[in-house]
Amino acid sequence: MLRRRLYSAGARHVTAAAAGPTNGFVGAIGNTPLVRINSLSKETGCEILGKAEFMNPGGSVKDRAARFVVEDAERRGLVRRGGTIVEGTAGNTGIGLAHVCRAKGYRCVIYMPDTQSREKMDLLRMLGADVRAVPAVAFDNADNYNHQARRHAEALENAAWTNQFDNTANRQAHIETTGPEIWAQTGGRVDAFTCATGTGGTLAGTTRFLKEASDGRVRVVAADPPGSVIYSYIKSGGKTMERGGSSITEGIGQGRITANLQPDVHLIDDALKIPDADTIRMLYRLLDEEGIYLGASSALNVAAAYELAKTLGPGKTVVTIMADGAYRYQSRLFSRAWLEAKGLADAIPAHLQKYIALA
Ligand SMILES: Cc1ncc(COP(=O)(O)O)c(C=O)c1O
Repeated sequence: MLRRRLYSAGARHVTAAAAGPTNGFVGAIGNTPLVRINSLSKETGCEILGKAEFMNPGGSVKDRAARFVVEDAERRGLVRRGGTIVEGTAGNTGIGLAHVCRAKGYRCVIYMPDTQSREKMDLLRMLGADVRAVPAVAFDNADNYNHQARRHAEALENAAWTNQFDNTANRQAHIETTGPEIWAQTGGRVDAFTCATGTGGTLAGTTRFLKEASDGRVRVVAADPPGSVIYSYIKSGGKTMERGGSSITEGIGQGRITANLQPDVHLIDDALKIPDADTIRMLYRLLDEEGIYLGASSALNVAAAYELAKTLGPGKTVVTIMADGAYRYQSRLFSRAWLEAKGLADAIPAHLQKYIALA
């Protein structure tokens, strides 16, 4: 009797994602929940759904790309067990790669600009990566961290530079996993998709899959922070790339059309530019009303989905990406001094100011 009661109480909490053991860390990547954002859905009359990519085992959407670029290097015969994976990255891709490399028995070398926080470098080192912090110089300088990463791999036997920006195995991860998962989780009832771009892998690959699966019906809108050229590129039909401004978001914003974005950029229907004030307001709102603790790029994505839902009108299903949690940025996002320095403290409504927990 007791056993039956325990079972039926517990059974309510069994989700489709808890489907049995995975093949190690790598097998646990993907199949993330698609979370209905109840408050925004109610307000707009739409279904606003966020793909909970922060639930990947390395904590971000970039675990998917990390797995695919490493498996691509294996398939191309560039690395075998004991070899070295080299990447230039200051963020989540490095974390994903560090995990995947340990799981698969590779060394991981990460080049990053020496302007990056100590916390990021320490985390990568704790995950077993060999971190090379190099002077922060522009991309056209031969000593830029990306070029140094490429040269490092070229100089070694049994090594690959995974080149996340222009290696389309990154985009392929989203064609083969993120897109099909969203399609299956909505039963094909998705009307619109929006997300921001760093490498462009997530936007391009998911767009490609959803456009093909829906015969072009799913509307795709690129979300862009200030300081990025994607908004002006799409709005002008590819004629201009205006920069201008800067943003508190990390991992997104782009100054060019990468090889990952290039094949699918013509499929993107429209673009939205989201000011930092809207991003930070959404970040605090999601915490207060939904208990969801997101990084700024994800809050920007949800703000874009909310804008898009209001434009489309009630009854539509709008999907976006919740790329990572706030854990890697909390010393800034929840610091009053930092928010004030960025001119964003006043963007947070009075009833949410209590969440600014740090001086
Ligand atoms: C937090 C965060 N959001 C979004 C992105 C963008 O994803 P993509 O590189 O697929 O465009 C990244 C990429 O590093 C990221 O770290």
